[in-house]
Amino acid sequence: MMKFLLILCVMSTAFCQNVTTLDHPLIQHKLTLMRKKSTSVCEFQKLISEVGMALCYEMTRDLPQTTTQIETPLQVMRAPTIDGKKLCLISIMRAGNGFLDGMRSFIPSARVGFVGLQRDHDTLQPIKYYFKLPKDIEKRDVIVMDPMLATAGTAIAAIDMIKEQGPRSIKFGALVAAPEGLSRFAKAHPDVPVYVCAIDERLNEIGYILPGLGDAGDRIYGTK
Ligand code: PRP
Ligand code: URA
Repeated sequence: MMKFLLILCVMSTAFCQNVTTLDHPLIQHKLTLMRKKSTSVCEFQKLISEVGMALCYEMTRDLPQTTTQIETPLQVMRAPTIDGKKLCLISIMRAGNGFLDGMRSFIPSARVGFVGLQRDHDTLQPIKYYFKLPKDIEKRDVIVMDPMLATAGTAIAAIDMIKEQGPRSIKFGALVAAPEGLSRFAKAHPDVPVYVCAIDERLNEIGYILPGLGDAGDRIYGTK
């Protein structure tokens, strides 16, 4: 595993025209609360859902618009609406589910898919245990989410699996990323834009992001 992490460190020099960092003060404030080890499971869950909403807002900034004629109480006007874009939110379980409530409250018409991947603690390689996408995925623009992009093994494997199903486009959203992971992800999927709330310092010797926020799944579900 040390050798694997060393190779990642060497690779981490260049990521990244395709990365957007959400530096909004409210998001950064919420992320700080989430990083604190004293933050409760209940509070963490609420915060990640709120940040999911903000991520969704930023990641859908380029949705095409049209106009429709409406009547306000004072006059008729042509007003902007979304131009029939079909979206699919895909959660990488289990931690990705933490974003879902917030994202779905923002775009309730989006379909939802799930990719079950779990990192093996010794090898850090992702192991697949579930995969379910909407049937008409090839007509949809996809937003994939997982709070943590560490070695990027999980995100790369998830996008590999999703690309095989032929969606119209893919974006990836995370809370915290390691430079090593971003670099590796950019090499594997240079066509996939990445949105993150923070790019942290580095990975530690067991593949955790420093300073990070610990194990996102455990923080959301209280399993540790
Ligand atoms: C965490 C996290 C990512 C992955 C990131 O999930 O939510 O999916 O690790 O690590 P990587 O970039 O090195 O692949 P974990 O495997 O712990 O599963 P969980 O969501 O079930 O807790
Ligand atoms: N997965 C997590 O949940 N946290 C990390 O820091 C790295 C991988």
